[in-house]
Amino acid sequence: MDKKMIFSGIQPSGCLTVANYIGALKNWVKLQHEYHCCFSVVDLHAMTVRQDPKELRKRCMEFLVQYLACGIDPVENMIFFQSHVTTHSELAWILNCSTYMGELQRMTQFKDKSAKNEDNINAGLFTYPVLMAADILLYQTDLVPVGVDQKQHLELARDIAGRFNGIYGDTFKVPEPYIAEVGAKIMSLQAPEKKMSKSDDNPNAYIALLDAPDVIVRKLKRAVTDSDSLVKFAEGKDGINNLLTIYASFTGEKIEAIEARFDGKGYGDFKLAVAEVIVEGLRPVREKYEDLMQNKDYVHKIYTESAQKAQAISMRTMKKVYKKIGFVERG
Ligand code: TYM
Repeated sequence: MDKKMIFSGIQPSGCLTVANYIGALKNWVKLQHEYHCCFSVVDLHAMTVRQDPKELRKRCMEFLVQYLACGIDPVENMIFFQSHVTTHSELAWILNCSTYMGELQRMTQFKDKSAKNEDNINAGLFTYPVLMAADILLYQTDLVPVGVDQKQHLELARDIAGRFNGIYGDTFKVPEPYIAEVGAKIMSLQAPEKKMSKSDDNPNAYIALLDAPDVIVRKLKRAVTDSDSLVKFAEGKDGINNLLTIYASFTGEKIEAIEARFDGKGYGDFKLAVAEVIVEGLRPVREKYEDLMQNKDYVHKIYTESAQKAQAISMRTMKKVYKKIGFVERG
């Protein structure tokens, strides 16, 4: 039987963090053999915030290489830059015309981002979830592995697909989210009531996948915790809960087992242990990244061939869409 389809992407802003790893990349690696997968560096999305062109180009490449370094198999899966596959922008326009302003106004990420970028509340920032819907629906995607912060966008994608299918007849598969039970929302190390964000102004708030071991240890030592000293998952202990979650995600252990191991030990010991599992977990990623960065021709081949495949697959959906909505067939 043919494998089911996965699409997921990460916006090339800031730097990839353990939150992106735990919430997304780790699950991509886990699911990649069971599904046909498209993993994209969604550069069109990054345009919703002002970018320095030189920096953006460099960052996009670094993100793609990190996908590979995390263990995505480029033979079985497609790994590409969103802007290399022209259908994403094409379908986004069509879907823009069947999405309501009210639906977009309800998106919490739009509210948050427009509050942060008051001088640049552009139309792209507003219609961003429609581009995300296009990314997903183009590939007749079954499953979308993401962190919980993308759930609302995914629900909108489902609504848009359902509405389009209702008006024009069956066109898109309605996708399901894949949100892991542990690690769907990793919190900031400096303000553990807020999610960890890869574009946080304070680098101590996140661990980057490429942070050196001593940097990881230093950031963990500075992580904000509460004032008692019990390594226990409990209400009001956001900082410790977050560190327990990170530890559990890296080792695959149950939270209760970790609590038992650190019974009677202080936060200092626990923070060092968390740093250690992160350092060890990311060591192969860092090493493979250094290696691949020396091998640009290989990387170039991967994203070029993947984009060609993705273009062909997504064009099938595009043709179907254009036919359904009544456009004259291309000669
Ligand atoms: P982005 O780039 O903000 O985040 C990339 C992925 O990382 C997850 N994530 C987290 N998971 C756990 N804890 C956190 N603190 C955390 N922060 C981020 C996100 O949920 C996401 O899975 N709009 C998307 C990118 C996108 C996309 C798509 C995703 C564009 N098109 C199509 C899936 C399918 C975004 O900005 O994610």
